[in-house]
Order: sequence, then C-alpha cells, then structure tokens
Amino acid sequence: MQPNLSKRLFSSKLNEVCRQTISQIKEAGTYKSERVITSSQSTHITVNGKRVLNFCANNYLGLSDHSRIREAAKRTIDQYGFGMSSVRFICGTQDLHKNLEKRIAAFHKMEDCILYPSAFDANAGFFEAVLTPDDAIISDELNHASIIDGIRLSKAKRLRYKHLDLGDLEKNLKEAEGSRLKLIVTDGVFSMDGDIAPLTDIVKLAKQYGAFTFVDECHATGVIGKTGRGTPEYFGLEGQIDVINSTLGKAMGGGTGGYTAASKEVVDILRNKGRPYLFSNSIAPPVAGASLQAYQMLDENSSLLESLARNTKHFRTEMKKAGFTILGHEECPISPVLLGDARLASEFADEMMKEDIYVIGFSYPVVPTGKARIRVQLSAAHTPEDVQRAVNGFINIGRKKGIIGDAKL
Ligand SMILES: Cc1ncc(COP(=O)(O)O)c(C=O)c1O
Repeated sequence: MQPNLSKRLFSSKLNEVCRQTISQIKEAGTYKSERVITSSQSTHITVNGKRVLNFCANNYLGLSDHSRIREAAKRTIDQYGFGMSSVRFICGTQDLHKNLEKRIAAFHKMEDCILYPSAFDANAGFFEAVLTPDDAIISDELNHASIIDGIRLSKAKRLRYKHLDLGDLEKNLKEAEGSRLKLIVTDGVFSMDGDIAPLTDIVKLAKQYGAFTFVDECHATGVIGKTGRGTPEYFGLEGQIDVINSTLGKAMGGGTGGYTAASKEVVDILRNKGRPYLFSNSIAPPVAGASLQAYQMLDENSSLLESLARNTKHFRTEMKKAGFTILGHEECPISPVLLGDARLASEFADEMMKEDIYVIGFSYPVVPTGKARIRVQLSAAHTPEDVQRAVNGFINIGRKKGIIGDAKL
C-alpha cells in the first residue's frame, strides 16, 4: 500500500470520529467559538472590526496593556532576549526567574516560590509530586478544572466536599482520619460565582483535624485584600495557609505563567518532582520582566485596587437597585448577573454586543441547569462612565425582555 494512501485513510477516519463528537457537542449547545480581537487586551477592544467596551477579561488591574508593563516587557527583551528554549533545570533559568520567584514568595509571605508555564500546570503538577497513597485530599466540589485534573493524577485518597459547606468538609476530614497528610483544597475566589471561600473556618477546621491548606488564588491575587495579597490577607490569615497557587495570567499583567508559593521544603520537592516544571519550557523573559513590574506596582500603592473596588461597588449597587440578581461576594469584581434560562442568557449577551458592550453568557454544563448567567468582570481601568454604560445596557435590555420592571428603577 502506498504510504500516502494509508495516511489519508487514517486521517479521514480520525476526521469522521471528530465530526461525530463535534456534532454531539453542537447538539448539546456547548460548542465553543472564538471572537477574534484585533486590538490589545483592554477596556475598549476591537472585535470583528467593532469597537466594544470589554467586561469579560480577567484584566482586574488593567495591567494587560498598561504602559509600565509594556515598557518592562520591551526592556527585558532588549536585555534578556525573547525566549529560553529550555526547561528550567537544564538551561532555562535566568536571574530574572529567580528574582520573580523571590518577589512572589515575599508578596505572599511564604518562604519560597516555583514558577510554572501556567497556573494550570502548577495545579496539575502539585498533588502527584507531593502526596502519596498514604495521604488524603479533601477538595471543594467546584474547584477549578486544573485542580480536579491534578488530583486525578495523584494516588492520594480523594474526597470531595459540597461547595463551601463546612459541615460536609468536617465530615470528610473525619473520613480522612488515619491518613499521613490531610490536605484541604479550595479556590480562594470561585470564578463562575464570584464567591469567596470561608477561609477562617477552613483554617480552624484544618487546625482541629491536623490538616493542611491549599488555596488557588488565581482570581484573588491582585484583586482581593487591602494590598491585593488575596483571600489570606482579606481574612487576616497571611502566613497561615500552607500552599498558595496562583497565576501571572490574570490581574498581574495577564501574560502567562503560574506558581506555587509555599515552604522551602514543599518548593524543593516541586523542583525535583513537579512534572510540568521538569518537562516544559520556562516562562519567556519578557513575561517574567513584566510580571516583576506588576508585583512592584502593587507594592508601591493601592490606587489600582481602589479603582477596582470603586467600580465593583458601582456596578453591583446600581444593578441591584435596578432589580437584577447579582451573585457572589459584594467585594468581588466577578459579578454574575443571574438570568436563569440558558437561551435568555445567550440572547441577552448578543443584545449587549449590539450595544457595543462585550459580556458573555454562561449556561449548563459550565454552571448548573437553571442558573444561566452573564458574568461581568470589572477592571481598575474602567472609568465610572464605562461602568454606567454597562449598567444602562443591562437596564435597557432587561426592560425590553421583561426581566426588570420600571417600578424598580
Ligand atoms: C481558579 C483557576 N485556577 C487555575 C487557572 C489556570 O490559570 P492559567 O491560565 O495560568 O493556566 C484558572 C484559569 O482560568 C483559574 O480560574
């Protein structure tokens, strides 16, 4: 048989299988397509040739396109070049990477820090590297997909507690009795609901049952707490969380990269056994340089955090006044507007786009059936006028669709 022909046969069967799966995804209404942005990531972006106001990026501090971040990236390219072409332990570590790790460890008041290509990798690599079948992981059922995947890769006993349910957490802690290590795992901020884990009680239970705590701070670093140090700062628990995983890809410049901040011993294990660290490329020098700048900016003053808090309060207050149900914690810039019906959420988002306001609807299976919503994310870079425009858009369409009445306005 000609090699080309067998390749084509294989490829057409592969394509056929993919086509069938894709049509099932489309039938389920969960097919994903991308809107292409032809500008920088900012509060105003160009999508499909149209200038729109952006409320769906994790650009909480507005640093993705900030002049200081751009300049830091350019300077770093001039000094350190573009890429590393190597994993860290072979020849992929510059003083830049070490400085960033030191800065992040100090930021989270931890002993050490290890960088990964992404926070997904930091979560995927942690559990397998640190825990054994003698240990137990007790995880909030709504933790991020990367935590779920990371836990699947480990051989530790896996227990799941109901979302934010301390009673169920305690029940699982009892079930984990006898394990060598017990690790409670939670997102600090949950990205679909904008709610915050009850860390004070979680730490109390951890102490009571001799467990350790792991918090994913991807939506909290640079967002929550007086100086942006996340949920441990918000609850006055800095230094009391054992492991913090977070990202460089959201508030802190929005480039790429993630990390684990923890004790020297934990980080040492990860440098020796964390597979996404050992077998994947270093983060690019300009990303490391610009991320360093982001942490420095947050240390200098809290003006960006204050703008973010002002915008969050503005949006949440005005939307509630208009009669909408806004989910999540009142200080969280993730502000999901609950609509219930999946089609309504999707049509609502399309109507908002017609008003040049870019928001996204989420429905099952990303969120439970009947809890479809539009997730609005505020940024420090939005002006009060931008926020009011979004509120007005919601009110206009909400009235048209009969979701809110005039009486409530
Ligand atoms: C809670 C949480 N953890 C981890 C990640 C992964 O972050 P990264 O984009 O750095 O891989 C995300 C990103 O969506 C997230 O929301």
